[in-house]
Amino acid sequence: MNYIMGIETSCDETSVSIIDTNSKILSNTTFSQINIHKKFGGVVPEIASKNHLLKIIPVIKESLKESKKTINDISLISVTNGPGLISCLMIGAASAKALGMIHKIKVSPINHLEGHIASCFIENKVTFPSICLVASGGHTNLYYLENEKKFNLISSTRDDAAGEAFDKGAKIMGLGYPGGVEIDRISKNGDKNFHKFPIADLDSSLDFSFSGLKTSLKYYIDKNIGWESKINDIAASFQEAIIKSLIKNTKRAAVKYKVKNILFAGGVACNSRLREKSYEDLGNYEILFPSIKLCTDNGAMIAMRGLQLMNTNNLNPSLDFPVFSSTKIKSNLNLD
Ligand code: KG4
Ligand code: ZN
Repeated sequence: MNYIMGIETSCDETSVSIIDTNSKILSNTTFSQINIHKKFGGVVPEIASKNHLLKIIPVIKESLKESKKTINDISLISVTNGPGLISCLMIGAASAKALGMIHKIKVSPINHLEGHIASCFIENKVTFPSICLVASGGHTNLYYLENEKKFNLISSTRDDAAGEAFDKGAKIMGLGYPGGVEIDRISKNGDKNFHKFPIADLDSSLDFSFSGLKTSLKYYIDKNIGWESKINDIAASFQEAIIKSLIKNTKRAAVKYKVKNILFAGGVACNSRLREKSYEDLGNYEILFPSIKLCTDNGAMIAMRGLQLMNTNNLNPSLDFPVFSSTKIKSNLNLD
């Protein structure tokens, strides 16, 4: 009777996980909508929320079945309440509240980005203080971690997120969605030094900026007829600029905050060049990446954050917590 359920529906993954209080994953069941949104070149919120509604109960049932537990074994339900797509978050939050009300289980609202950070703690022991880079489709944030409860935001992107830069760059080159996966794949056969794309230098700031990089890719493609024959080299060079920028600021943060330990999380932490270059450039630090399946959105990271905050005032007995969005995510639905 001491298991935690994590529910994640902030974007295009309906994911439910059951973990125990030693952070062992008993199940982490995900219905991914990637194939549904592929033809639009990105996530369409209206379609995403409809699919969460169709899938949330089957995924909860499947996750319980896989964990060999019943709802009566669950002592805490953790659910993402933001940032994310409002209509998608609502499905997860309403389901968690309903389960909590009917079965008298405590419900804990979880910040999606703190969930990504918590993914680093599932398979590893983390030493403090640490710096964590969360790089996803909607966010690129650096955090200073004091302990397993207190995560302080120290910088973010001023415009596009790293994952968004991958997705938009892939679209410019006519590659599929999610762009990061496609660029990572074809870059393996490309020359990363083929072209030097600019990386933003915001003086000594720890903030990121990727919108100029996307524009410079667009200009490069428009100017160079026949670029298609060099697409692997262009993708590898574009990827290298994003990765250099991520590592440069992460290293600066580690120096500024005098930490020895650096964590990477979020969908972009799947990137093979980021993994390779961080070991090349950050050799003096202890580096930690979650396994690939825990980098992209999943219920286990939300359950893990619930476990970390279990004995705090994060619990919400009245179940009246709101969901909140990130204003940056817009519909990709093209009605023309
Ligand atoms: O964390 P996540 O699953 O969802 C959000 O919270 O946004 O991250 C999705 C993002 C997408 O932008 C996708 O292109 C990027 O992660 N991504 C990658 C890779 N795999 C996923 N970016 C670079 N390389 C990858 N291998
Ligand atoms: Zn995410």
